[in-house]
Amino acid sequence: MNIAAKTPAQGAGTPENGGLENGALGNGQYDVGGVVLGRPFKIRRLGHFGFSAKNLAACLEFYTKDIGFKITDPMNFAANPANRDKFAGIEDTHQYFMRHGTDHHSFVLADRRIIDINYADKPHKPRHSVNQMTWQVGSLREVVNAIAYFENTGTPINRAGRDMPGSNWHVYPFDPEFHRNELYYGIEQIGWNGKAKPKELYARGFHHAPDLPQISEEEEIARAEAAGVDMSSGFRQREDMPETYDVDGVLLARPFKVVKIGPVGLYVDDVDAVSRFYEEVMGFSFTRESTIQGARCRFLRCNTEHHSLAICDKSLRARLGAAEDTTCMSFGLQLANYRQLRDAVDFLTSRGRRIVDMPGDLFPGMDYAACVEDPDGVRVILYCYMEQVTARSIAAQPAVVANTQPATWPQRIAPREDVYDGEAYLGPWG
Ligand SMILES: [Fe+2]
Repeated sequence: MNIAAKTPAQGAGTPENGGLENGALGNGQYDVGGVVLGRPFKIRRLGHFGFSAKNLAACLEFYTKDIGFKITDPMNFAANPANRDKFAGIEDTHQYFMRHGTDHHSFVLADRRIIDINYADKPHKPRHSVNQMTWQVGSLREVVNAIAYFENTGTPINRAGRDMPGSNWHVYPFDPEFHRNELYYGIEQIGWNGKAKPKELYARGFHHAPDLPQISEEEEIARAEAAGVDMSSGFRQREDMPETYDVDGVLLARPFKVVKIGPVGLYVDDVDAVSRFYEEVMGFSFTRESTIQGARCRFLRCNTEHHSLAICDKSLRARLGAAEDTTCMSFGLQLANYRQLRDAVDFLTSRGRRIVDMPGDLFPGMDYAACVEDPDGVRVILYCYMEQVTARSIAAQPAVVANTQPATWPQRIAPREDVYDGEAYLGPWG
């Protein structure tokens, strides 16, 4: 795909493509909530992320028991008897939706072979290992207006609508190397009882772009209650490890709490083409570029964190001894504080997980970071601090570079001026 051949400014807002009805003002400008932007949406944060796993059972064990994601809904691709032959030989045909907070899912896992089968007859297929990178935008209108925008910019779209489970309204655009992105609004929130929505509510799923406006979720729930749906019948996973660690005053099953997902690092063939897509089409801001062991890496952000996305030349992958069948350089998980980060290293090591040496300059904006390998050989970066930047501050302030050697970490550290700033975790830890 040549994204440069058709820029947003050229494609948007012409009478033939109906752009004027999708928030377009002409000349590549869009009305986004009364603010004039160069695209009809603004990405706010990484909402969820997923892997297509080689070793699903082992990865499920790692991400639930070791890391602490909770399964919100297991969805069986072979639930329909008509699909059973299609997935014959795959021991576990579920896609596991998991959460660390109140979003219905912030992480998903499914067997890689299922993606291969589901996309066998489709022109575009998600890259191995990265199942999806899913970004929150500001409204349902932003999602719907993005659909025509992607068509106008020559960006392949997987599909659009509203998936159940999860209830998020979405569209899936591919990047130039077929990493599947998703833009969404309105993901289901898991409340105090820890239960997902009952399956009867899946009737409000959409397999096409919805007409606007739609009824509110409150109205959906009221209608389901009036129809007699048992609102307590949704799935809930209880913690199955003993809650013996005093984690800043709360007893939990592991000595740390994941409070945020991301950033995501990608290995790509063409750093410029991929970076141009995320900057020009998706609207990410450029933070900095580095050369690391001879490979270029560009760091982009969608909010005030130093970076949300790292785009690295694939030549780095072999140099770092990383798995050859993944395009994921790293998946970041922010822990609540520095003490928990240190305790996490001890906990994961005691459970036989491998802490891997990664260059600290792959993780600018973090001060201390530990890289642990998942059962597929994908590198998960645990950290606690991320430098916060703005368009005005980034040029003047060089980023912090991560110390990735836990053996050298001090017991306590001095505060940086933006310590504990950035996205706040909502709700109780367990
Ligand atoms: Fe998703």
